Amino acid sequence: QQCDIGFIGLGVMGKNLVMNLADHGYTIAAFDLDQDKIEGVLKQDELERGDKAPRIVGCHTLEELLAHSAQPHLIILSVPAGKPVDIVCENLMKAGLKTDAVVVDTGNTLWTDTVERTAKYEGQFTLFSTAVSGGEVGARFGPALMPSGDAEQWQRLAPVWEAIAAKVDAKTGKPLESFVPGQPVTEGEPCAAYIGPAGAGHYVKMVHNGIEYADMQQICEAYQVMRDVAGMSCDEIGDVFAEWNQGPLNSYLIEISADILKQKDPATGKPVVDVIQDTAGQKGTGLWTAISSLEVGSPNPSIAQSVFARALSSMKQERVAASKVLKGPQPEALNEEQKAQLIAQLHDALYCSKLCVYAQGFHLMKLAGEQQGWDLDFASIAKIFRAGCIIRAIFLQSITEAFERNGELANLLVDPFFVEQIEERQTNWRKSIANAIINGIPTPVFSASLAYYDTYRNAVVPANLLQAQRDFFGAHTFERVDQPAGEFYHIEWSQPERQQVRVK
Ligand code: 6PG
Repeated sequence: QQCDIGFIGLGVMGKNLVMNLADHGYTIAAFDLDQDKIEGVLKQDELERGDKAPRIVGCHTLEELLAHSAQPHLIILSVPAGKPVDIVCENLMKAGLKTDAVVVDTGNTLWTDTVERTAKYEGQFTLFSTAVSGGEVGARFGPALMPSGDAEQWQRLAPVWEAIAAKVDAKTGKPLESFVPGQPVTEGEPCAAYIGPAGAGHYVKMVHNGIEYADMQQICEAYQVMRDVAGMSCDEIGDVFAEWNQGPLNSYLIEISADILKQKDPATGKPVVDVIQDTAGQKGTGLWTAISSLEVGSPNPSIAQSVFARALSSMKQERVAASKVLKGPQPEALNEEQKAQLIAQLHDALYCSKLCVYAQGFHLMKLAGEQQGWDLDFASIAKIFRAGCIIRAIFLQSITEAFERNGELANLLVDPFFVEQIEERQTNWRKSIANAIINGIPTPVFSASLAYYDTYRNAVVPANLLQAQRDFFGAHTFERVDQPAGEFYHIEWSQPERQQVRVK
């Protein structure tokens, strides 16, 4: 049997992508180094296909995989990012991969690796990449897909990706979902669109993950304030999140947070979050985003703070020791009215901070895109994020509309809709942070977002003094407010009476 697609890597994501492809009528030659994983996907096919013919052929070698897939080969990889991608590519070539083949990397690959690999394999086969978001459920029933690479190959891949991607109602931006095997959603706008040349898709996915980190952290900040300042139970906090999920904060991450807070630990009967250790893990994509923002020169302080927050959380032993010597304020009990006020303020803080996080992430993509010559379409990227991915939220529809109004928008903060949204809410945002600070509760993302907003909205910042300091100790020169930009001056600071000199 000649299958439509060859698929390598049948871990959780790979297996689910294969079943998703099968639901959409594709036949798949499937390979994994682990025999059990091959058996697993064949079994799944048997369970789900009903009276249809098998849709998957299990392959035990790469030669078999190539023999069972139609030419020109379309091979999809779902293997861990990094070295494994190169190993599979080299082995595929040894197994007889032809030059007209396209190999698609769907891992969380570092975008620069994709750029290098694409060039490295040029002439031997075409490496194309598609970043996938949505976790295992997304992979199975509709992920968000960020494809990039050779534009001609996209023509070939587009029908496949558009079929299996998450779908949204084009008008409202709301996800159209089905979680029933064999009954996928076939209508609506797919969350898959060509991002740009090699590396662009993985870059956009990296920033998606940076936003994901900050989004998660700021929800945790709201949780901590409710828990430690308002003394609320997990059930109560879960109710607040569930209520917020009905409004402008509606999102997958708020929804699952509400769900998580209501779950009890079967062993102890306690809320499950109370038995989970407070040390966050990370695989690196948030860190990559923060590093890139520094390199590109697009400030993403909220995203960076969310990476720092994970790092601080993982220093458990040190924190436990420090907690015995370092003192902070003790929050005072709140009455019902104060509690309601605190919740309302937190809601607005979360909305405003979230906007700053997205503003930073999109600004980063804008600058990186300009530097790399990618010509990114931000309305299209926002559309992809509306469903399937981890950061999916009703809010993404407003972002889509902002970029549809103005594709050249300098920053989401200056879009007229968002200007109004912040104006309505910023007093609460400020009060919320002030209150947290007074009570000794860290809100690194809320606070970094507000500092970002307050710096961005100011025509004048104190960098004049900073320039003077630089010139004072290092003769680094400065520009004058009353002279044309690009003219640099230096002062002999030890002899201030001396004339300033124009140095370049
Ligand atoms: C997604 C997720 C996915 C993964 C993260 C987790 O979009 O589906 O972002 O890629 O869950 O990589 O990252 P951490 O382990 O670093 O939290």
